[in-house]
Amino acid sequence: MPLALRLATPSDLDALEGLESRGFSGDRFTRRQLRHLLQRAHGLTLIAEDSTDTGVPLGYGTLLFRRNSRAARLYSLCVAPEARGQGVGKALLVALERDGRERGCERMTLEVRADNRVALGLYRRAGFRLSCWLDDYYEDGCAAWRMVKALGIPRERPAVAPPGSPSVAALAASSAPSSTPPSEPPSVPSRKDAVATPCGSPSMVD
Ligand SMILES: CC(C)(COP(=O)(O)OP(=O)(O)OC[C@H]1O[C@@H](n2cnc3c(N)ncnc32)[C@H](O)[C@@H]1OP(=O)(O)O)[C@@H](O)C(=O)NCCC(=O)NCCS
Repeated sequence: MPLALRLATPSDLDALEGLESRGFSGDRFTRRQLRHLLQRAHGLTLIAEDSTDTGVPLGYGTLLFRRNSRAARLYSLCVAPEARGQGVGKALLVALERDGRERGCERMTLEVRADNRVALGLYRRAGFRLSCWLDDYYEDGCAAWRMVKALGIPRERPAVAPPGSPSVAALAASSAPSSTPPSEPPSVPSRKDAVATPCGSPSMVD
């Protein structure tokens, strides 16, 4: 399928909401959360459309950046059910990685439901490695894997925000999952704080 990827704007709110409602069986972003994502300064959302039929959204993906961090976080990735298996998810992921790299990020992280075999396969084949196990992460009690991929940015490249974040070399280099509950960085909420999100936690949407 000929694909066109573009930056989403606040006027894409309906499109994103439609993708969420058709793309996820649960754990959906609310309209309010989506609006916030679209307006967020430290993030970007890409929309995929059929280039021969623009205006029909096929999928979207959101990347978040944090001040003082060289990590980009894949916060959501969703493809319309009828468009799956045709490379849309992979194209979005590759484009978001490129955008993270261009913002000076050294690595990309994400959380994915432990029972989401398709997404896990996509991420692993794209070069993401299991980083840690997040027990009881989602609202329904499902665990998550955090995954990480080094984006290959030279350390002297400017970062999104002022440098000073701790070294992540050990995390990025690790391909071995930890079998014990992770020691959570402050940004990661407990499931009690999470309002069921596909790839991340709404504490980032505040
Ligand atoms: C996960 C998701 C984004 C993948 O998008 P997609 O457009 O269908 O994926 P692609 O067509 O780009 O395929 C990517 C890879 O997954 C494989 N794949 C896709 N659908 C598959 C399926 N149903 N079963 C097995 N493999 C599948 C493809 O063969 C491809 O493999 P490759 O990397 O070896 O080429 C999509 O299934 C989706 O939106 N799912 C619901 C929301 C979700 O789970 N999001 C992820 C949250 S972390």
